[in-house]
Amino acid sequence: MILQMRDICKDYPMGKTMNRVLHNVNLDVEEGEYLAIMGPSGSGKSTLMNLIGCLDVPTSGEYHFGDKDIMKCSENVLADLRNKQIGFVFQSFHLLPKLNALDNVALPLLYGGVKKAERRERAAEALRTVGLEDRMEYRPDQLSGGQCQRVAIARAIVGKPKLLLADEPTGALDSSSGRAVMELFAQLHEAGSTILMITHDRDIAGYAQTVKYIRDGVLSGGDEA
Ligand SMILES: Nc1ncnc2c1ncn2[C@@H]1O[C@H](COP(=O)(O)OP(=O)(O)OP(=O)(O)O)[C@@H](O)[C@H]1O
Ligand SMILES: [Mg+2]
Repeated sequence: MILQMRDICKDYPMGKTMNRVLHNVNLDVEEGEYLAIMGPSGSGKSTLMNLIGCLDVPTSGEYHFGDKDIMKCSENVLADLRNKQIGFVFQSFHLLPKLNALDNVALPLLYGGVKKAERRERAAEALRTVGLEDRMEYRPDQLSGGQCQRVAIARAIVGKPKLLLADEPTGALDSSSGRAVMELFAQLHEAGSTILMITHDRDIAGYAQTVKYIRDGVLSGGDEA
């Protein structure tokens, strides 16, 4: 089991009251699974992704990631878990504009305390995995959107995380670059990666093994895609 959520709720303060955005979410992710969570705008997808990725903490409920009880972890432990066990892919890539592809990909290893020669070697290998071995010296403004997303995916996998977490990974891409990113995810899944992808796009969700639905903060389903 990669992660297990039980009765997870998330409230945001709204003026003097609290607004419940996630209602008693239960979620299990097994090793090697490829899961998509679909839902309309405002349904709570990014809120849930932030909780799964330990970027934010639930208001109530139980959350275990690997052997860790997330509700009891300090911010330092969560930061280390985010760095080493979760690879993040965002709609807007989140690359550093002044760094070339190789240095962007190597960045999580730098934060993780890996030595320079090994950082470069592993970043180059991750870029080869995403088919960008000939673009290592290019900065984000010298790459297409689809190439930027592949750099971001290389950065997400360079630390060999337990979970690849993607929020609308094709949202900023044209359909052919989006397909290339989905083919890359399929290849990573085939090689053993566990992937959780959030999307509002039915065709994109169709690439996953399993699709769950979120509506008004309630998660349901789990039918084979
Ligand atoms: N920081 C916040 N404070 C208060 N309310 C918030 C906050 N963040 C999100 N919300 C509310 O929570 C609900 C879910 O937002 P969320 O960003 O998770 O939606 P989403 O499903 O990711 O939507 P989209 O597809 O548009 O990205 C929305 O009603 C939003 O207004
Ligand atoms: Mg969102």
